[in-house]
Amino acid sequence: GLNAAFPSVAHLLPMLSLENSYNEQDLIDWDKRCREASGAESIHYCVEPKFDGAGISLLYESNMLQRGATRGDGVMGDDITMNTLQIRSIPIHAALHTCGIQQMELRGEVLLTKKAFQTYNHRLLAEGLAPLANPRNAASGSLRLKDPNEVSKRNLDSFLYHISYIQFRDGQDTPPGFRTHYDTLQTLHTLGFKTSYPYTRLVQGIEEVIASCRAFEATRDDLPYEIDGAVIKVNSFELQEQIGQTSHHPRWAMAFKFKARQATSTLLQIDYQVGRTGSITPVAKIQPVAVGGVTISS
Ligand code: IVH
Repeated sequence: GLNAAFPSVAHLLPMLSLENSYNEQDLIDWDKRCREASGAESIHYCVEPKFDGAGISLLYESNMLQRGATRGDGVMGDDITMNTLQIRSIPIHAALHTCGIQQMELRGEVLLTKKAFQTYNHRLLAEGLAPLANPRNAASGSLRLKDPNEVSKRNLDSFLYHISYIQFRDGQDTPPGFRTHYDTLQTLHTLGFKTSYPYTRLVQGIEEVIASCRAFEATRDDLPYEIDGAVIKVNSFELQEQIGQTSHHPRWAMAFKFKARQATSTLLQIDYQVGRTGSITPVAKIQPVAVGGVTISS
């Protein structure tokens, strides 16, 4: 939702969500709908990580980052430009003129690595404050801080994965680097943006999609940040247009959600931490247990 502490800004295009799938049959049915809507016999798809962070929208104009916004209600977001300037992986300048780009709105995810999240929670505990439940809450809370210096200290990271709007100079036609999703990620990568490109697999047909989703699920613990699934996107923009979108989500993309992770441990003791204001936070101390590449002990 929107936050009264920040000015509201309109996204150039609405920030859509994704439809979720949970099993192979969901994906097989979706591929069939995509093939029927486009008339394509077999479709090339990109499979990329579903980053478990906070959505962000970035506006670039004349080689400069002009604005950063939260998702908000999808149409309007909070203007958090000052905070986005503190995220080191978000470039303030980019040589967009070399590709003939006049204006571009990008979508991505702001997140904390598992390590940055643990460091931050240790700091909270040391200060007698309640630790945060997960890196996603930590990321979305951090974007709404009023003090940009504090944002800087949290070492936020980000990945961009979508161009929602692009305008080329002098009514120039779409150049080759921007005709498919995969090429777009590669072009943005070359321009200095941190994108899902290094992690994205370009595959053909739904069987290869399913294999890639399984591969992501099997290696999720090896990644330095949390992912809660894979996102599958029709590669060709021409096909994407034929397949279309609803008011809520594109029909040419699908999230594949991993099973929630669980672990069992033993409760050792409960500490009561007293904050500066006298607030009391109970903290359960448990037998350390490994979940998703981090060790949980509180
Ligand atoms: S694409 C039209 N790609 O997941 C483009 N979203 O549950 C729509 N997300 O709102 C988004 N990783 O905040 C896309 N690789 C990825 C993503 C991703 C994480 C988030 C995004 C979206 C939410 C839907």
